[in-house]
Amino acid sequence: MEKGNITFHHGKVNCCERYKILGQKGLVVWLTGLSASGKSTIAAETERRLIDLGRAVYRLDGDNIRFGLNSDLGFSEKDRFENIRRVAEVCALFKDAGLIVIASFISPLSSMRQMAREKAGDNFLEVYVKASVEVCAERDPKGLYERAFKGEIKDFTGVSAPYEEPEKPDIILDTEKYSQDKCVERLTREILGKSALKTVKA
Ligand code: ADX
Repeated sequence: MEKGNITFHHGKVNCCERYKILGQKGLVVWLTGLSASGKSTIAAETERRLIDLGRAVYRLDGDNIRFGLNSDLGFSEKDRFENIRRVAEVCALFKDAGLIVIASFISPLSSMRQMAREKAGDNFLEVYVKASVEVCAERDPKGLYERAFKGEIKDFTGVSAPYEEPEKPDIILDTEKYSQDKCVERLTREILGKSALKTVKA
């Protein structure tokens, strides 16, 4: 692969060798949903359980990443695309390193999620953490919906900026219907199955 004066350099190790050392297959678990739908809580609890089970996991969270890597980005459509583009690249690298990556980002447009899937390659789970704007606005743990409704925050997802519901997510976690515990249990089970090493073709 070449681009301008740059040539891609292949190393001497492939991801399957790293997977064998770690005893698991790299995987990107992409949580999408509105602010306050439950993404971060489910991600943190699932990470906790998987680590307790001896899995190598790393969590990337929308709010947190915006303190560092993406501190230069806001919430225009262009900035959100760049946010997701960078994070999707990081996810793909971590997956290649053999980690189970749990990424929780609103990622409001299907094209953003598609980009993340394409960069990750084969082992990707799109998880729709489902809750309506009404319910999220009622939960409003950070008081952001209240401010968005007053017009104090512009481009707020679900209020003054779009959220396209995933059409064919791999998993739906409906946090209006099911408890946090049930959602975490389901997600943990799916991740354990999908990252099991026996499915690696060496
Ligand atoms: S994304 O749309 O680019 O994927 P991301 O997941 O990184 O968003 O960040 C979302 C978090 O930023 C929300 O949980 C919320 O706390 C905060 N936030 C601040 N402003 C906005 C806004 N205009 N729209 C949505 N979330 C916002």
